[in-house]
Amino acid sequence: MAHPEGPAGIFDRVADTYDAVGVPWFEPIAAGLVEELAVGPGEHVLDIGCGRGAALRPLALATGPGGRAVGIDLAPRMVELTARDLADLPQVTVAVGDAREPEFPPGSFDVVSASLVLFFLPEPATTLGTWASLVVPGGRLGTTTFGAQDERWRSVDELFFPYLPPALLDARTSGRGGPFASDAGMEALFVGAGLTEVRTVTRDVEAVFRDAEHLVAFTRSHGQRAMWDAVPPDERDAMHARVVDLAASLTDDTGRLALGQQVRYTLGVAP
Ligand SMILES: C[S@@+](CC[C@H](N)C(=O)[O-])C[C@H]1O[C@@H](n2cnc3c(N)ncnc32)[C@H](O)[C@@H]1O
Repeated sequence: MAHPEGPAGIFDRVADTYDAVGVPWFEPIAAGLVEELAVGPGEHVLDIGCGRGAALRPLALATGPGGRAVGIDLAPRMVELTARDLADLPQVTVAVGDAREPEFPPGSFDVVSASLVLFFLPEPATTLGTWASLVVPGGRLGTTTFGAQDERWRSVDELFFPYLPPALLDARTSGRGGPFASDAGMEALFVGAGLTEVRTVTRDVEAVFRDAEHLVAFTRSHGQRAMWDAVPPDERDAMHARVVDLAASLTDDTGRLALGQQVRYTLGVAP
């Protein structure tokens, strides 16, 4: 998905609230990737599109002080805040960098990871090839993308559809088309990038909200903020009311409001 204003813009604006509204989301998603990549002490790791460090922190803890964990992100505010948050880990470097052209020599890393990033990039196949070249022979590359979405969550997104420009329509990047639509599509991208031992792991992740307003706050705190921004300012109060009403109808008899998402981990090994 090519973002109309460029992803750095929206992510710069949400950096301060990103993953900080009390809904564990990016960390549990990244945890699956970190687990599958099985980083060991002393390894050199690159986390592309590191955001607020959901993957970078556990990767850095896994490499330990004898390793190296580099995070790059296009959004300067993300980089600033994550560098501050991880300042206690000497093995970590966080820098502004473009996922399409990471400025590292070939074979610089034992592991390259990118959690919820690849679908923002206009040429994922080419970019994946670039990432694969950064991995040493026998090293691992892993990405996280979205699998099937909870129909109830989709009903929230659908409220915004009339306002969204075409480039945002597939923005949940559930990928109803293209390589992000299936395990096989992602695996084909990996194989095309020259990776071997390509495999997929899926997990179900649930976002749990205190109430309807908490759901609204969550949707405004990350990339979905672009959906709110697409609504004309004089219609936002009405949209807010519609989301709150819908959230009430999605709340179960015990008062629990939780929406699920299948997460797809695609993994490969550099030849
Ligand atoms: C959905 S967030 C995921 C962040 C983090 N990996 C996580 O799991 O929480 C996507 C991130 O990719 C970054 N991003 C988007 N396009 C990028 C690009 N071309 N180069 C580097 N980072 C990019 C955004 O700034 C944002 O921080």
